[in-house]
Amino acid sequence: MKAAVLWERHSRLKVEEIDLADLESGEARVRVLASGVCHSDLHHINRETAFQPPMVLGHEGAGIVDAVAPEVTSVKPGDRVVIMFGSKCGTCHYCHAGEDYLCTAVLPDHPRFTQNSQRLTQLLGVGSFAEYVNVNASNLVPVPDEMPVESAALLACGVTTGLGAVTKTAGVQPGSNVAVIGVGGVGMNVVQGAALSGASRVIAIDLVERKLEMAQQFGATHMINAADTDPVQAIRDLTHGRGADYVFEVIGRPETIKQAYDAARRGGTAVVVGLGAANEEVSFPLDELMRSGKAIKGCFYGAVQPHRDVPRYIDMYLTGRLKIDQLISRRFRLDQVNDAFDAMVAGQVARGVIMFE
Ligand code: APR
Ligand code: ZN
Ligand code: ZN
Repeated sequence: MKAAVLWERHSRLKVEEIDLADLESGEARVRVLASGVCHSDLHHINRETAFQPPMVLGHEGAGIVDAVAPEVTSVKPGDRVVIMFGSKCGTCHYCHAGEDYLCTAVLPDHPRFTQNSQRLTQLLGVGSFAEYVNVNASNLVPVPDEMPVESAALLACGVTTGLGAVTKTAGVQPGSNVAVIGVGGVGMNVVQGAALSGASRVIAIDLVERKLEMAQQFGATHMINAADTDPVQAIRDLTHGRGADYVFEVIGRPETIKQAYDAARRGGTAVVVGLGAANEEVSFPLDELMRSGKAIKGCFYGAVQPHRDVPRYIDMYLTGRLKIDQLISRRFRLDQVNDAFDAMVAGQVARGVIMFE
């Protein structure tokens, strides 16, 4: 089968034939039909991360179950599924507490991908830039026939992270003022989540005019281009001089995380959704942090409980409340995967999706 392999960091992916291991206990084999290209995939190309090349990237996939291990009953061959990522050991403190996304189990160093016996890392236990993946069957959430597979794929990361940041991590209330710094594939879903939550102002900030126009279609009430306007001042100007109740940073850079903190009102919350680098830090004047009563919260994977939240998001899509199709700006074949990354870096797409057929 074919997969896009990252052989070393800072290089292009190579689409090559690789081998897939036999199914093991608890696993399902999924024929991947669509996989979104997320900015965090790029982080694993450009930065040192816990996942080592050679590696198959991709963590926003959906497809059809091809086979399951004998004891697996939650899905069966032929089922259409979204492939959620991460571990879910079921026995750690967080899994017991219903906070699966915080599961402390380390993903087994047990790649199911090889090429000539060389092991290839499976990013986040998924690696969906491959025609087939073996994954933990409990990470698969069924998708109804009415939902196109490429839209379902976006539930595996961008949609779920963005909506969850608003509704679960922040708990945005109707009437709140919300600002979103970075309205790409994930940030656009923060915008739409804030609008769905009844925020009065949803202020979108980006450097790319086209993203800001799109954010308006997803519910932004105000658009600020940070290329020519100071976003912190602009957010304050739009919120009675106070700052927003919630400011989401959806890029992962120290300067924009600082902007999110500065643009939150006294007692407000800055939510960091963007994935920053391990060697970068942000600092805050301590007296202000304490006196202002502000909160800074990290948001991993939209605090998702896959089997509770994803079916709800699917229902919101089916009833027309949640826009997902409109996020997909371009479709690529697997052998165009590097073009998909280029389009993302150039700001040409909200989401590019690799289509496998
Ligand atoms: N100010 C405002 N917007 C910016 C800035 C900046 N200084 N720098 C970049 N942006 C915008 C880009 O123009 C783009 O629209 O941020 C957006 C980032 O979007 P994508 O590249 O589509 O990235 P996405 O997949 O949404 O991921 C964003 O969230 O989950 C994390 O790991 C992910 O760190 C990544 C972040
Ligand atoms: Zn992602
Ligand atoms: Zn666990």
